[in-house]
Amino acid sequence: MNQQNILFTNNTAQALDTAINNIRPNGIFVLTDKNTAVNVWPQVKAESMLMSEATLITINPGDTNKDLKSATLIWENLINGGATRHSAMICLGGGMITDIGGFTASTFKRGIKFINMPTTLLSAVDAAVGGKTGINFNGLKNEIGVFSPASHVIISTRFFNTLQKRELLSGYAEMLKHGLINSAATFHKLIDSDPLEIDAEHMLELLKASVEIKRRIVTDDPYEQGIRRALNLGHTAGHALESLAMKKGKPVPHGYAVAWGCIIELILSHTHCGFPTNTL
Ligand code: GLY
Repeated sequence: MNQQNILFTNNTAQALDTAINNIRPNGIFVLTDKNTAVNVWPQVKAESMLMSEATLITINPGDTNKDLKSATLIWENLINGGATRHSAMICLGGGMITDIGGFTASTFKRGIKFINMPTTLLSAVDAAVGGKTGINFNGLKNEIGVFSPASHVIISTRFFNTLQKRELLSGYAEMLKHGLINSAATFHKLIDSDPLEIDAEHMLELLKASVEIKRRIVTDDPYEQGIRRALNLGHTAGHALESLAMKKGKPVPHGYAVAWGCIIELILSHTHCGFPTNTL
């Protein structure tokens, strides 16, 4: 798998211009959802000359819309906008947008380049990085997809002020998961920081350290044949809880379910695999 160029900066306009000049596409398409189109896109567009020429594609927000219907709409918009094999897509939004954007870009005309610009903590720390793309199908999450890395991932914390508290905590849970996988020191550094209180620059630093853990694992095992499975810590039990909550009509943020899943899986590690009590 090609290496992703991961840029950490709150000067997103400059990073975006650099990434685009690197790719030199003959057309730029920006994929976003209806909320991000209102809350974030106007700033991004106003700051970059290149963005003012881009074609905007907007889809309905939420994981339930990460489906074939939205994918079809994206492909139709690319065709109607005159996209060619040398066009590029910018995926501006949360994990839903980077997942479906990466998938539709990677399959359009056998693959056009795409840049991920995550606007949520959850997508910045996880979904936008590592090349997993896909859509939900037949009631199953991420059932159809491809491993396909974005050419660039632009990670900033500047849009997080549009997020609700629960969205920040949800992303923070995936950071804690990276901490648990990496070392006690990383975990304690994180747990000692309050994600709702820290400023944008400090958050960017923590984010950089957290994404580096994922980047290292993905570089070693891009197609999840071995160590990359560690990144699924908390997700098996977590997905079960997430599905149950959804079924009961009381959806929970993904990271909350992952945090609960981590607790369940660590207890199982103790009862079944001898994980020591004091570490538990
Ligand atoms: N979200 C886990 C992974 O990217 O492998």
